[in-house]
Parts: sequence; structure tokens; C-alpha cells
Amino acid sequence: MFSPEMKSQIVSTVFRLRTKTSALTVDFYNRLFRAAPDLRLLFRDDMQAQADKLYDMILTLVQALDDMQPLVPELEMLGCRHAGYGVKDEHYPILTEQLIATLADNVDGWNDRDREAWEELIGFVADLMITGARDVQATGS
Ligand code: HEM
Repeated sequence: MFSPEMKSQIVSTVFRLRTKTSALTVDFYNRLFRAAPDLRLLFRDDMQAQADKLYDMILTLVQALDDMQPLVPELEMLGCRHAGYGVKDEHYPILTEQLIATLADNVDGWNDRDREAWEELIGFVADLMITGARDVQATGS
């Protein structure tokens, strides 16, 4: 699914991460809400809990790089739940941009190959989530 080069690039960025805790995703949400303040309304108050969940999800994705297939139904369900949170297709590129900016500022020696690898990974996840959200709208279930 992913090329060996892409996978080793992602793993390399994880080794070069300066913040290997959910402080990384706290930083991400702060950026997201500065860039798009309206999105804050979609979230509950406890952003630390949310930052922990997103951090765990990122670790899960990195660990699953060799075989994403088992995660596909889970990611579609996640997208379906997101539709229920009020998330729209157009929010995904905003999230992607801020997540990449967060990584760029927290990974030593961040470079274009790092960016391409993460764009591919987040794009893959976002496509599945959007598909999951569409399927639920189509069936009305
Ligand atoms: C790569 C894409 C994304 C991933 C991996 C992701 C991951 C997660 C996870 C793991 C949760 C925990 C709750 C659950 O499992 O249902 C969550 C909740 C949530 N996410 Fe995302 N998300 C993504 C995209 C987005 C986008 C684009 C938005 C739009 C602003 C968003 C807004 C939310 C909201 C509002 C919640 C619920 C928070 C709450 O209960 O207070 N997410 N997300």
C-alpha cells in the first residue's frame, strides 16, 4: 500500500520528533483553533483528553504502516462518527495543513520528503474517513 521509502520516512520523522507526548497534539489543537477559531465549537472543553486520543491514533497509524488493511473499517467508522460531531469534508484539508505545520516545527531537520510522506499518510486516513461519512449519509443509518 505504502512504498518502503514512504514508510521509512515516516519512521525517521518519529525518531526525530522533539515532543514524543501528547504535548505535540496539544500544540496542534492550539494552532488549529488559531487558524480556524470556529472549529473550537465542535469540540468539548477537555482538549487534553482529545489531544491524548489524537496522539494515540497517530501512534496507531505509525505502527500499522506495514499493513493498514485491518484499520480500514475502523477509520471509516471514525469518519462516520466525525460526521456526527459536525465535521465537514472541507475541514480535513484545514486539519491536514495544521498537523503538517505542527510536525514541521517539532521534527529535527524537517524536509520535503518528510512532508510528502505525512501528506500521503494523512490523505489516506482522511479519504477513508470521508468515505465512511458519505456511506452513512447515503444509507441514512
Ligand atoms: C486525519 C483525520 C482525523 C483523525 C485521525 C481524527 C481523530 C480523532 C479521534 C481519535 C477522536 C476521538 C473520538 C472518536 O474516536 O470518535 C476524534 C474526535 C473528534 N474530532 Fe477528529 N480526527 C480527524 C479529523 C478531524 C477533523 C478534520 C475535524 C474537524 C474539525 C475533527 C474534529 C473532531 C471532533 C469535533 C471530535 C469530537 C471531540 C469531542 O468529543 O469533544 N477531527 N478525532
